Amino acid sequence: MIESQPRRRFLQGLAAAGALAALPLPLRKLSAAAPRVLRPQPAEAQLVGPAYPKTAVWAYDGLVPGPTLRLRQGERLAVRLDNGLPQETTLHWHGLRLPNAMDGVPGVTQEAVAPGQGFDYAFAAPDAGTFWYHSHAASAEQGARGLAGPLIVEEAEPAALAPLQIDREEVWLLADWRLDEQAQLVEPMTTMMDLSHAGRIGNTVTLNGFIPEAWPVRAGERVRLRLINAANARFFALRFEAHEPWVVAVDGQPCTPFRARVGGVGLPPAGRVDLLVDLPGRPGSRFTVTDDAYAGSAYKLLEIAYAEESPLRPAPPPDPAGLPANPLPEPDLDAARTLEIALEGGAMGGLAEARLHGRTMGLRDLARQGKVWALNGVVAGDHQHPLLAALKLGESVRLVMENRTAFPHPMHLHGHHFKLLARDGVPETRGIWHDTVTVRADSRVEVAFVADNPGDWAFHCHIPEHMMAGMTSLFRVE
Ligand code: C2O
Ligand code: CU
Repeated sequence: MIESQPRRRFLQGLAAAGALAALPLPLRKLSAAAPRVLRPQPAEAQLVGPAYPKTAVWAYDGLVPGPTLRLRQGERLAVRLDNGLPQETTLHWHGLRLPNAMDGVPGVTQEAVAPGQGFDYAFAAPDAGTFWYHSHAASAEQGARGLAGPLIVEEAEPAALAPLQIDREEVWLLADWRLDEQAQLVEPMTTMMDLSHAGRIGNTVTLNGFIPEAWPVRAGERVRLRLINAANARFFALRFEAHEPWVVAVDGQPCTPFRARVGGVGLPPAGRVDLLVDLPGRPGSRFTVTDDAYAGSAYKLLEIAYAEESPLRPAPPPDPAGLPANPLPEPDLDAARTLEIALEGGAMGGLAEARLHGRTMGLRDLARQGKVWALNGVVAGDHQHPLLAALKLGESVRLVMENRTAFPHPMHLHGHHFKLLARDGVPETRGIWHDTVTVRADSRVEVAFVADNPGDWAFHCHIPEHMMAGMTSLFRVE
């Protein structure tokens, strides 16, 4: 019951919060006058079913995942962060091209918010699409404890969606947890192994805060699925047995629809994919959704469970046209300046030395300080984002990322989306925009963007364990 449970829990959460009970449900138009309060706090969540105790987590408004924030493209969102955690935090609005001061990066765009303190965020959403919010302070621990929530920006003109014949939509926020036999989070939250290898990958996958069993559907319908990977370090690759979903947006940005066939639907940490799933199965039939992102570790995520009801329509709707495009600036590839970025370090990466706080150090000395990853030979210190490059406002930039490590890295740029140009020299012809792109081990990825948003923008690996162990930086746009 993917749909109904989060709603019920949301209602319970509101009742407990008392003062919030007067908010309209579902939360739609957020008025500029009254900010919505969002409170990260310790909470308990029944992640793994009634046979196990509840898990002690950290959660926005006590909910796993955090409440879905929804607004319409062009509208303003006003949120007051009210820190109920025992440590500093911030809110980052992942994928939104917003003013720099609202970006939520401690030490770069604001001071971290102390326990008991607050911060007011307010910005307009220029792009419609599927986004999410999370903390950017101690994000390895705060992410692994459960702090994440969906942020959905609806298209400015809902009428423009009519030709797509979407019957309904669902948000699937995927997360993973490293739990012990009592269903409690395994401590410590970050080990040297996590820092130097693949990050904190969990042993329990949840969908909207539960271990999913079945996805109830009706024959003949077309559902828009908004997939969000909120896991720290786990990649997903979903295969829909006997179904061929249409990919209609990646990282919030519409693309020319194509069918996800070979390779399934891939989601790096922080990645989003919007699918249109046509459901041509017979009433009463069942199919599997499998995640086989890791060789030899495929598992069944859930079953597609068709109701006995007669089909909603006799045949699938026509192939969908695209979602309305967002106002993204097109990079000028002829004039673009090229920046090469070397991703180095980690276990089995062969990094000999790199610079930390201006000093060249060997890997062993770096590792002693918990630092093992470098971007262009520079390791970020704690709470530090070394300047990678200063960009002129409006200039087109081609980034060539070369991964010389033994692990894949989902590289994320704040405040901008970039267009994927090529992988390992092979042009990508779909022209897909990303805010987070996977650079596989021993591979090269080329992207381009227009530096049109002034400010200091974090550029980092979105596996927070890699980020805290040195793999972060920033671009200055001025
Ligand atoms: Cu999802 Cu730097 O963030
Ligand atoms: Cu990484």
